[in-house]
Amino acid sequence: MVRHLLRDDDLTPDEQSAVLDLADAMKAEPFARRPLEGPRSVAVLFDKASTRTRISFEVGISQLGGTPLIVDARASQLGRGETIADTARVLSRYVDAIVWRTGAQSRIQEMASGSSVPVVNALTDGFHPCQVLADLQTIRERFGKLAGLTLTYLGDGANNMAHSLLLGGATAGLTVRICAPEGFTPDQDVVRDAKSRASDTGGGVELIADPHAAVEGADVVVTDTWVSMGQEDDGLDRAAPFRPLQVNAGLLARAAEGAIVLHCLPAHRGHEITDEVLDGPASAVWDEAENRLHAQKALLAWLLRA
Ligand code: CP
Ligand code: NVA
Repeated sequence: MVRHLLRDDDLTPDEQSAVLDLADAMKAEPFARRPLEGPRSVAVLFDKASTRTRISFEVGISQLGGTPLIVDARASQLGRGETIADTARVLSRYVDAIVWRTGAQSRIQEMASGSSVPVVNALTDGFHPCQVLADLQTIRERFGKLAGLTLTYLGDGANNMAHSLLLGGATAGLTVRICAPEGFTPDQDVVRDAKSRASDTGGGVELIADPHAAVEGADVVVTDTWVSMGQEDDGLDRAAPFRPLQVNAGLLARAAEGAIVLHCLPAHRGHEITDEVLDGPASAVWDEAENRLHAQKALLAWLLRA
């Protein structure tokens, strides 16, 4: 059966753990495995801007011995209205996997439905599972474990990162706390699914409105932009409700000793996070960014059973 990664709970806890083990192996010996040699090709399509995702997939696929095809989907026929289903059928005849950054989650579901090769979500409005695999790899290399740790995310609780941390974190056995302003809380269905997954793994899901209470004793503190791609002109006033959630030295002081800070980047310095924290000793963001490369190589090798 063809496997896809459209959202984080598409991987079982054991599968997630296997991908993370492989990611560590890829990191230890970046050029030792070339399972896509042959070569196998991977189409990486973008409907939205990207730096990390684009470059890490291109480099990673090359390092695996495969051929990366990086496509600005807005300049393809998809951008002129060719259906997703027809695109999926055609791409499946050319490539061994499809990686896509797009908007609505329903779009990537449609791509997967029409595809006979694995489809990977490289960020949608709903989820960012590749990022969270890298986040989990980073947490595990810092703490030597995942299950039992507490991760607090502060910011837009309804965005892709919050949803993926809920599902991916619960899958890993983390307790995931979400601190979001009123009107920006996570999708109820995602919370339900994360709780269900957490009940299998010993993890937990908590929605905590007060930022100080949310960060109290946390091992990992995570934030993200207050304005995700596509929300720039939605007319919502974010500055006032989000300002108390800024990850700064004062807030971070409430976290557990040895706590780390993650941010998927790009960061909006002085908004969701201060320079002092982003560039400070608790920041693991540069390792986190690097781990995109290793985690995605592992994911592709695993999905392609290569
Ligand atoms: N974190 C992340 O996905 O970065 P890009 O938008 O640069 O790909
Ligand atoms: N939530 C952000 C993540 C960027 C990597 C966005 O969707 O723009």
